[in-house]
Amino acid sequence: MRKTIFSGVQPSGQITLGNYLGALKNWTKLLDEYNCIFAVMDLHSITVRQDPKELRERSLKLLAQYIACGLDPEKCTHFIQSHVPAHAQLSWVLGCYTYMGELNRMTQFKEKSQRHADNINAGLYTYPVLMAADILLYNADLVPVGHDQKQHLEIARDIAERFNSLYGDTFTVPDPFIGKVGARIMDLQDPTKKMSKSEPAGSISLLEDENTILKKIKKAVTDSLGYVKYEEGRHGINNLLSIYCSVTGKSVDMAEKEFEGKGYGDFKKAVAEVVIDELRPVQQKYNQLIENQDYLMKIIEDGAFKANEIAQKTLKDVYEKVGFIV
Ligand code: TRP
Repeated sequence: MRKTIFSGVQPSGQITLGNYLGALKNWTKLLDEYNCIFAVMDLHSITVRQDPKELRERSLKLLAQYIACGLDPEKCTHFIQSHVPAHAQLSWVLGCYTYMGELNRMTQFKEKSQRHADNINAGLYTYPVLMAADILLYNADLVPVGHDQKQHLEIARDIAERFNSLYGDTFTVPDPFIGKVGARIMDLQDPTKKMSKSEPAGSISLLEDENTILKKIKKAVTDSLGYVKYEEGRHGINNLLSIYCSVTGKSVDMAEKEFEGKGYGDFKKAVAEVVIDELRPVQQKYNQLIENQDYLMKIIEDGAFKANEIAQKTLKDVYEKVGFIV
């Protein structure tokens, strides 16, 4: 039996080079080994206000970006979260097995309620319960998560274990999936922070045009040492080296040798070139896909069908166990 990997991304903006190199690109290598489910988490995204028209567009754009990055729909399941009602249904049940004390500890909730102080809604608070439902519905064995989602995966595990100990084996307790070397790509302007779509100057989006990529990399913060070598504390240079190595597959040693005696100008140009070459086919594929809405709609229709089948089974089991008439 193949193990199941589940992951989701919110349709809340652009995928960055950091997401691509740190996550998506690595996920494509899992398709033959695992049963992969990658979903567009639109229910999660309305915890902060969204423009309805934009949200709809971004959901399809995200799907097109998934596929353009190599997450072949022939080999994995893609669906839109709101197309599978069991997410909301299981979320309600699990919410009754989650303590407020647990939710109060979530650092992302604390951080988001500061950022959206005018809209601290209940959805923002119960978001980790919905995320637990996402994962547990599919009996996912593994969930690739970044650092910011670790706590949410922890709570999903706790909820699963609690439910299992009350009602007998029901859910698979999911483990975090730690990729081999999912590069952690940092902000180009502040390389001590993770690259994030909310900082356009320091981040490169998957769909960025060549000139902008070149400009942004040229402007990337470095230091005054003047040589290209991976060294403790040289955040800017280290980050550019990680980008270069992660795109080309070269080792840091090889890259350092390649740029021996060269200045930052040459180095940055080389980094920009490999990034542009890497993203070009992805962008071409994306442009084709986004023109072909019928195809995209077909993918999510098929995906929702498959996802509903699995999710319904889990939900039925849960409903029976808690005492609903099914
Ligand atoms: N909360 C995740 C994020 O913001 C997205 C997400 C929702 C998710 N449900 C999930 C990720 C289930 C993994 C598994 O990045």
